Amino acid sequence: MGEKIIRVENLVTKFKSSEKVVTAINGVDFSIERGKVLGIVGESGCGKSVTSLSIMGLLEEKKSEVSGKILYKGDNLLDFNDIQMQKIRGNRISMIFQEPMTALNPIFTIGFQLKEVLFLHKGIKKKKEARELSVQMLKMVGIPRPDKVLDEYPHQLSGGMRQRVMIAMSLLCNPELLIADEPTTALDVTIQAQVLELITKLKEKYNMGILFITHDLGVIAEIADEVLVMYAGRIVEQAPAGEIFENPLHPYTRGLLSSRAILFLKGEKLHCIPGMVPSLGNMPSGCAFYPRCSAVCPKCRENIPQLAEVSRGHFVRCFPVQEGDRGYGI
Ligand SMILES: Nc1ncnc2c1ncn2[C@@H]1O[C@H](COP(=O)(O)OP(=O)(O)OP(=O)(O)O)[C@@H](O)[C@H]1O
Ligand SMILES: [Mg+2]
Repeated sequence: MGEKIIRVENLVTKFKSSEKVVTAINGVDFSIERGKVLGIVGESGCGKSVTSLSIMGLLEEKKSEVSGKILYKGDNLLDFNDIQMQKIRGNRISMIFQEPMTALNPIFTIGFQLKEVLFLHKGIKKKKEARELSVQMLKMVGIPRPDKVLDEYPHQLSGGMRQRVMIAMSLLCNPELLIADEPTTALDVTIQAQVLELITKLKEKYNMGILFITHDLGVIAEIADEVLVMYAGRIVEQAPAGEIFENPLHPYTRGLLSSRAILFLKGEKLHCIPGMVPSLGNMPSGCAFYPRCSAVCPKCRENIPQLAEVSRGHFVRCFPVQEGDRGYGI
């Protein structure tokens, strides 16, 4: 096994409002190794972004409560104060967001923003040196005419170019872990493929670990080594990527796989998962997926199954699967 960069243990994230407290993440465990991509997949609202924001310490403290452990080199990041977290963020652990415009500042040039990162995190003091490093990094992520781009503002770039700038910015400090939250969702398909290829190439070059979040199983198939399938704040299935595609076990994973648009394009019948992800304030008793599940048994309505290893490295949270009742059809 490779070197673990981060280990998340029993992560629980709650949101507090004046009326109630809701649990968005409910006991999530995983670890990420150097040079490996862990993919998190699930429908909208399953808790993918809240998981990454919890790791980065980016949730508003007054309105949220994060517990469990986020172990980085033996330290629990949840015990770190703001100053300690700032040193980790953008330095050892970087994040790229779905919509680069939200992370880039519209009123400063690209060059100014890259320079700020280098001044702040890399201790670089000379503008000329910062500019040279920025040009190198923009070249690395495949931006043509990097010198010109440094003097441009975010709105002057296309979506694909902005995402490349974001990737360049997140890599300036050679992070050990890159958290990529839907980094290609806003891009068209050709650009999406280029950005995925770029992330894979950079992962190998820098031996980074990557937490890659997407609702798109096609993207996961391209990039991930291991996959976590999340539903309503819990991991419902976890396995090496090949195993998830060849031998999906949880009815939710099977539903996600058979509802992919690509199957439709290939002329296969498209199945969609009936119903919707439950809202946090209105979770069903028992397994959160049971109201939408075709394999539901009486126990599922009353009890929450544990995540159990059903074959080597393949974990599933489902009573019918765990008890060997594979007679369900989706
Ligand atoms: N700041 C917040 N306050 C209260 N609830 C929140 C907050 N942020 C997220 N949530 C809730 O937490 C749940 C998980 O949200 P999250 O953003 O992690 O979903 P997601 O899996 O990333 O979805 P998407 O694919 O749409 O990005 C949702 O029910 C969401 O409404
Ligand atoms: Mg999200």
